[in-house]
Amino acid sequence: MAIKPLALFVKHDGMSSRASITCQYKCGNACSHEVPNNSQGEYFRDIARTALSRRGMLRGSGMAVLAVGAGSALVACSDSAEAAPGTGSAGSSDGSTGSTPAGTNFSAVAPNKADAVTVPTGYEESVVIRWGDAVLAGAPAFDFENQTAAAQELQFGFNNDFAGLLPVDGAPNAYLLVVNHEYSTEPAMFRGYDAQNPTEEQVKIGWASHGLSVVQVKGESGSGKLVPEIGSNNRRITATTEFVVTGPAAGSNFLKTSADPTGTKVLGTLNNCAGGVTPWGTVLSGEENFNQYFANAEAVTDPVVAARLKRYGLAGGASERKWERFDKRFDLVAEPNEVNRFGYVVEVDPWDPTSTPIKHTALGRFKHEAATIYITSDGTVVAYSGDDERFDYMYKFVSSRKMQAGKSQAAMRHNMTLLDAGTLYVAKLSGNSAAEIDGTGKLPADGKFDGSGEWVAILRTDEDGKGESLVDGMSPEEVAVFTRQAGDKVGATKMDRPEDFEANPKSGKVYVALTNNTKRGVDSGAAADEPNPRNNNKNGQVLEITDNHAGTTFNWNLLLVCGDPATADTYFGGFDKTKVSPISCPDNLAFDSHGNLWISTDGNALKSNDGLFSVVLEGENRGETKQFLTVPIGAETCGPIVDEKRVIVCVQHPGETDGASIESPASHWPDGGSSQPRPSVIAAWKKDGSRIGS
Ligand code: FEO
Ligand code: CA
Ligand code: CA
Repeated sequence: MAIKPLALFVKHDGMSSRASITCQYKCGNACSHEVPNNSQGEYFRDIARTALSRRGMLRGSGMAVLAVGAGSALVACSDSAEAAPGTGSAGSSDGSTGSTPAGTNFSAVAPNKADAVTVPTGYEESVVIRWGDAVLAGAPAFDFENQTAAAQELQFGFNNDFAGLLPVDGAPNAYLLVVNHEYSTEPAMFRGYDAQNPTEEQVKIGWASHGLSVVQVKGESGSGKLVPEIGSNNRRITATTEFVVTGPAAGSNFLKTSADPTGTKVLGTLNNCAGGVTPWGTVLSGEENFNQYFANAEAVTDPVVAARLKRYGLAGGASERKWERFDKRFDLVAEPNEVNRFGYVVEVDPWDPTSTPIKHTALGRFKHEAATIYITSDGTVVAYSGDDERFDYMYKFVSSRKMQAGKSQAAMRHNMTLLDAGTLYVAKLSGNSAAEIDGTGKLPADGKFDGSGEWVAILRTDEDGKGESLVDGMSPEEVAVFTRQAGDKVGATKMDRPEDFEANPKSGKVYVALTNNTKRGVDSGAAADEPNPRNNNKNGQVLEITDNHAGTTFNWNLLLVCGDPATADTYFGGFDKTKVSPISCPDNLAFDSHGNLWISTDGNALKSNDGLFSVVLEGENRGETKQFLTVPIGAETCGPIVDEKRVIVCVQHPGETDGASIESPASHWPDGGSSQPRPSVIAAWKKDGSRIGS
């Protein structure tokens, strides 16, 4: 077969250092499309008016609009014409300032562009499992040149994102590793791939490469190495696995299709990004950029339906992967409701490979980055979830049921209904220095980007699963399925891409990674405000919330305003900026047993590969940020887990750089030689066997 040129690898206008192909396949080019949120919520208008009038009063006070950074291509995570960042002492030394906080005693890894996983001196790492490795008995050895859907259904899927590690009772050093497979990158998977005419087999491999994997892994004694096994709980969940729908949207007209007139059974889960392990032993996973899989939004004429599609970023004709040619459910004209069956938090019981996974509609439908759980002292479950889109919102769900302790089947059955009764809220934030926010990232006179917030209830789900809408003009089913529009109506605060949203088990404080937003204050994009203080925000920030978890109020501040520490528009919790690692585009979060925050990045805008960083939260070193590892060329760091023995990250889309191809790969990680890059999970540990960061 003649090798076709891959137009897909050509850089397109306005896009950035996150390779064009990654934008195209991971999120359906979300960043080059129109911002889906054009709402003008009351709250935002009020704030804007107040800020404007106060700004008017300050006119002439000498407040100047500073240029942000030195770059000219001011786009998300660009590595274009910028100077390399200052590395600070953390870039080259142990970065400590005398006493090193527990868990962070390692030599920071310097920013680099190596085609390798780079870990601190004294640590080693190895691959746990790669795309194509066996998950289920009978899986053939991975053969890049001869892939089949039948094989992929038995093998580890593509583009691993979230990872959870659950200890197996009674089996020391054995775990279930549960991993999301966010998306397929067909031009990097299939030699000679013709994006205009994918074959049926390629499409079916794509379906099987999505979803989740459950894999038993065994820890090697004396190290942190993990080896996969064909365990009895091993499972692949794909784009065709049956799910049951629960909550207020289950059985509603919005979810009924010709294949499922009940509106309660969905085939598959798509674009599973981050997630969370629940205290009751299941795994939650967020269906994120599901919109990109559905074709022919442009042919929908009903204005109400068209507006809903637009709010979720659905536009145009054929889909990127052309799945609609092989299954009509992906064609919005043939099957208009199928799209309403994606965009949920799904829950998987990894301990029962025959169990039917759940889509929980009481948590609303949006581009869920993840969902993570905090349990209050009385057993109430709080699930936090961000909607990863520029100018979209932060949500939490508070259960009315209480968690039951123990691992009995009865407890598991009960606990898997915890997310089906309770109240869904959306966040409104206000700043206490609003008049000083000029979009430059200049710290207000009170020394902090901070303020208070309110959780606005939008949907209550009762014990029978019946919903009550708390939004004027919307039915409960509408709030559950078109949740973004409910947020618009109550004037939720437009954030800079809320990604992982997670409570620190040690302190109870809640953290949100806000990746970036290059439309902030640009064109018609909402202006900077105190929680999103920079226009044209390339590097993102990390929000710290002191939440009244089951209640409706909170206080917040920015822990980090990310970027090159040498520039004026960055802030590292008040810590000396000459002693931190540069960090850009925070995405996934984890905590270690000492209560330190760990952050993985997606799309570093500072001329380095992505990586994993520790951040001290308490004491005089608060804000000290150190890079623990970097991932290979073109890759994103995902799914961090930091326990006492090991650090686990998912290396997603290695080798996805503009100009790369199967004929000329940009990365040969992890197998080396002339091999094709393969998304993989890695574990890192300390060679001397002592605790991570000791
Ligand atoms: Fe899949 Fe929000 O990153
Ligand atoms: Ca302030
Ligand atoms: Ca992510």
